[in-house]
Amino acid sequence: MLIRTHTCGQLRDSNVGATVRLNGWVNSYRDHGGLAFIDLRDRFGITQLVFDPGDGVTAEMMDAARKLRNEDVIAVEGKVRIREGGENPKLATGKVEIVVTSLEVLAKTDNPPFLPDGMGKLPGEEFRMGYRYIDLRRPAMQKVLGTRHKLYQVTRKYFDENGFLEIETPILYKSTPEGAREFIVPSRHVPGTFYALPQSPQLFKQILMVSGCDRYMQICRCFRDEDPRADRQAEFTQIDLEMSFVRRDQVMEMMEGFVRRLWGEMTGYTVPPIQRMTYREAMEDYGIDRPDTRYGLKIKDISEIAAKTEITFFKETLEKGQDRPRFNSKRGVVKAMVVPGGAEKLSRKMTDGYTPFVGGFGAGGVAVVKVNAAGAFETGIAKHLEVVKADLFAALSLKPGDTVLFIADTYSVATKAMGELRQKVARDMGIVPKPGAEGGPWNFLWVVDFPMFERNKDTGKWVAMHHPFTSPRDDQMQAFLDADTEDEVIIEGIVSAGYDIVLNGQEIAGGSVRIHDRAVQSKVFKLLGMTPEQAKEKFSFLLEALSYGAPPHAGIAFGLDRLVMNFLGTDNIRDVIAFPKTQTGADLLTKAPSPVPANQLRDVHIQSIAPAAG
Ligand code: AMO
Repeated sequence: MLIRTHTCGQLRDSNVGATVRLNGWVNSYRDHGGLAFIDLRDRFGITQLVFDPGDGVTAEMMDAARKLRNEDVIAVEGKVRIREGGENPKLATGKVEIVVTSLEVLAKTDNPPFLPDGMGKLPGEEFRMGYRYIDLRRPAMQKVLGTRHKLYQVTRKYFDENGFLEIETPILYKSTPEGAREFIVPSRHVPGTFYALPQSPQLFKQILMVSGCDRYMQICRCFRDEDPRADRQAEFTQIDLEMSFVRRDQVMEMMEGFVRRLWGEMTGYTVPPIQRMTYREAMEDYGIDRPDTRYGLKIKDISEIAAKTEITFFKETLEKGQDRPRFNSKRGVVKAMVVPGGAEKLSRKMTDGYTPFVGGFGAGGVAVVKVNAAGAFETGIAKHLEVVKADLFAALSLKPGDTVLFIADTYSVATKAMGELRQKVARDMGIVPKPGAEGGPWNFLWVVDFPMFERNKDTGKWVAMHHPFTSPRDDQMQAFLDADTEDEVIIEGIVSAGYDIVLNGQEIAGGSVRIHDRAVQSKVFKLLGMTPEQAKEKFSFLLEALSYGAPPHAGIAFGLDRLVMNFLGTDNIRDVIAFPKTQTGADLLTKAPSPVPANQLRDVHIQSIAPAAG
C-alpha cells in the first residue's frame, strides 16, 4: 500500500516539486479535456488530484481512474505543482494539485445511500443515522468531533491544574431514586436482583470525598430513561466535579474560572463575571428557573392592582389562598407581561393561540389588551381596566403600541404559564437571537437559592428540587432541623444550597453543597416519604459513610453535550453526539434495542411478557 506522507489538508505551495503520497476518499470526480480530476478527502481536508494521460500515466491507470466513483478509498503518489486551473480559495490546499503517477484502489464502495460531499441535498436525519459512518465523514460532523475532543482536553487541563483527580466510577450501579426513571440490568448471579445504570455518579463522588480524594472530576456517561428532547438524551455526558472543605462560593468561583477558560479557548470570548440571580427573582421576573436574559419581556405581579377591578376571574383568583405567604404555590395571583410593539407585531392569530397554549400548563387563559396610538386600552377586558388605567400605566411603564398579556391563577400555575408564554411571545416577536456560534451573545447566569423541596404534581408528595443529597443553605440549617415535616408552608420555604449555571435560557450545569451530616440526611429521606428502613435499604452505604468522618463537600456537573451545542450553534443535541439515539431511544445504526434469545434471558432469570417482536 502507498502509505501516506501527508494528509489531504496539508499541502501548500511550499511543497511544490515534492513527491508525496495521499490516502483518502474520492469526494468528487470530473473528466475534463482528456484529464481526470479527483478531489481527495480525509478528515483534514481536500486535495485536488490530476490524472494526465500525457504525463507518464499509463492507459491502464487512466482507465482505473475513470472508473473511480465517489467514496471509493484510494492511495496515490504524485508530484505537487501549482494548480494550473487557478487557485481554489475555498480550500486550504487550493493553491496546489498533485499530478498522479501511481494509483492504488484500497476499497471500492457500493453505491452510497447519500454523499457526504456537501453538494447534494442531505437526506433526513433518521436516514443518515442509519448510516452514521457516512454521515460522520461530512466536514460539519468532523468539526463536531473535533470540538468535543478539544473540549475534553481543555477541561482535563483546567481541572488537573487545580488539583482534581480524574476517577472512574461504576456503570453497573445500585438502583437509587434520584429523579428520573432508571435503566436496569438483571444480575445473573443473584436471581431477581438488578443493577441500575447511573443517572449520574452523584453518590460515588460524595463517597470519594469521604475517602479523602479532596477534589474529583470525571467526564462520564449518565443514563436516564426519559423521553429525549431537543437538548436531552437518555444517554448523555457530564463533566462531573466534587470538592472537599468548601462552601458554595468556592465551587462557584472554581466553576466560573472553568467557564471562562473554556469559552476563551473554544471561542476566544472572555466571559465577564457571571451575575447571580435568586430562584425567586428568576421565577418572579421570568417565570422559569433558567431564564433567557437575552431579551426583556419581564413579568410583573399586578395582583394588588387587579384586586381593584370588577373583573370576575381576577377577583375569583385573588380569593384563593390569600392567607398563605406571598410566593406560596397555592395563592391566587394576577400576572402581566408587557410586549413592546406587540400591538402591531403580534397578529390576532398569534394572540388567539395563547389561551390554548397556556392551557397546556394548566392555566385557564390569557387576556390580551393593546395600548393604541392614543394611549387607550383596546380589546378584551379593556373597558374593565379603565378604573386602574393610571396604576397599570405606572406599574408597567406602558406606551402606545404595547400589548399586555394577563394570566390569573394560583402562583405556581400563573408563574409557569407566563414563563412559557414569555418564550413563545419572544419567538413570535422575532427577538430571540440565533444560537450563538462564534461570539454569542452569551448570557451566563448563576441561579441560586432554590427551594429544597417541591410537591410532585401527580403524586402530591415532596420531592427534592435538586436531588436528595443537597444541603439546606447554611443559614437555613437550623430551621430545617426544627421544621415539622407536616408543616407544608415551612417546608416549602426552606432554601437549599443548590446552584445552576444558565446560558441563554438553557441549564448547562447544576450542583449543590451536600449534606455531610447523617441526621440531616435522614431527615431529608423522611420528608421524601421514606421510612427509616427504606432509607437504610437504599442508602445504608451513604448514611454509614456520612457517619465515619465526612468532610463538608460540594460539587456540580456540566452537561457536556449542551456545551458542545453552544459552541457549534445547534439546538439539536443529536448533532453533537457521535452515535445518538432517536426520540424513542433507538440506535438506528446497530438497531438497538433488540430482542435477545430466550436462553440469554433465562441466564439472567428473566421472562419476557412482551409480545414477540416482528
Ligand atoms: P443534573 O441532573 O442537574 O445534576 O445534571 C447536570 C447537567 O447535566 C445536563 N443534563 C443533560 N444533558 C443532556 N441530556 C439529559 N438528559 C440531561 N440531564 C441533565 C444538564 C444539567 O445541568 N448529580 C447532579 C450534579 C451535582 O449535583 O453535582 C446532576 O446530575 O446540563
